[in-house]
Amino acid sequence: MLNRRAVLAGTVSLALLSACSDNGGDGSADASKGGAVGIAMPTRASDRWLTDGKSVVQSLKSRGYKTKLVYGDDDPKTQVSQIKELIEQGVDALIIAAIDNRSLDAVLQRAADADIAVISYDRLILGTRNVDYYVSFDNEMVGRVQAHYIIEKLGLEDGKGPFNIELFAGSHDDNNTKYFFDGSMALLQPFLDNGKLVVPSGQTELDQITTLRWDGRTAQRRMSRILAKSYGDRKVDAVLSPYDGISRGVLSALKSAGYGSGGRPLPIITGQDAELDSVKSIIAGQQSQTVYKDVRQLAQAAATMVDDILHEREPEVDNGTDYDNGVKAVPAVLLQPTSVDKTNYDVLVKSEYFTDAQLK
Ligand code: GAL
Repeated sequence: MLNRRAVLAGTVSLALLSACSDNGGDGSADASKGGAVGIAMPTRASDRWLTDGKSVVQSLKSRGYKTKLVYGDDDPKTQVSQIKELIEQGVDALIIAAIDNRSLDAVLQRAADADIAVISYDRLILGTRNVDYYVSFDNEMVGRVQAHYIIEKLGLEDGKGPFNIELFAGSHDDNNTKYFFDGSMALLQPFLDNGKLVVPSGQTELDQITTLRWDGRTAQRRMSRILAKSYGDRKVDAVLSPYDGISRGVLSALKSAGYGSGGRPLPIITGQDAELDSVKSIIAGQQSQTVYKDVRQLAQAAATMVDDILHEREPEVDNGTDYDNGVKAVPAVLLQPTSVDKTNYDVLVKSEYFTDAQLK
């Protein structure tokens, strides 16, 4: 079985490494300098994961690693077999953004048996000791930022209300879903309790509001059902959405129901990921807000971590205790999110996340 120390000692065949170089490797890396890293991303259906994949590859290549980037098309089984294949190809480390956080137990045992380091990328992998580190954003903070936006824009702290709100959450099998929801509810709950926020659908529990695979169309259908069933003469004032794809689905449902025209303004709608279509929607005054997470920095953090591990250096972490995956506390590096709306979207241009022309 391939051992990462063997790679470091330069005893792994170049043929084996070049088998890992397609789709992200450029064949130019000096294999004796680095090693090979498998990158398993969840889906190509959203901009953000395309940026993540590209950025992780770039960050690793600049450090002399070969890379093999795969996308699991949001199918947990596909992702498991892709990871199996990466292990068989002899990668030295795996960077994984899981589709279903609980589906990787068996395959990560194989990785451990092959002495392959595993980084849980953005989403914490649960229920296994075979995950070495976690790199992500402060996800509970993301939820707080979204809720804070709604509270501020509705003037809830000035005693305004009552307002109607609907709540959306992410995929139930993504551990981040709970962080986002808990972070938001920590701020929104007092206003639900004092009646200044009302949820006409009555759907306030996490298991009532999740959106499988974060799918925008699923969210659109749910919003349409809610509007038909629970609104009548009432109007929606705010929608808590944890992710831009969901926000756009919710917007479509609202527009089909006549919001955004004829004296019926669109509600406040939050989001996350600063996806191009959503940023354009924000500029056009439709979606209200998004949470910008510079995933290029996340990619750098993951690459630095891999580089440290493969050079037998202890990676620096921000939090060694709180990210418990049910079996162990996974040492974590956490980056900070930024709230973006119509007033400050130029931060995306200044940080070169988008060009001016892209936002036109
Ligand atoms: C989450 C991630 C969010 C968003 C969502 C849907 O795990 O933290 O930023 O991308 O997946 O892809």
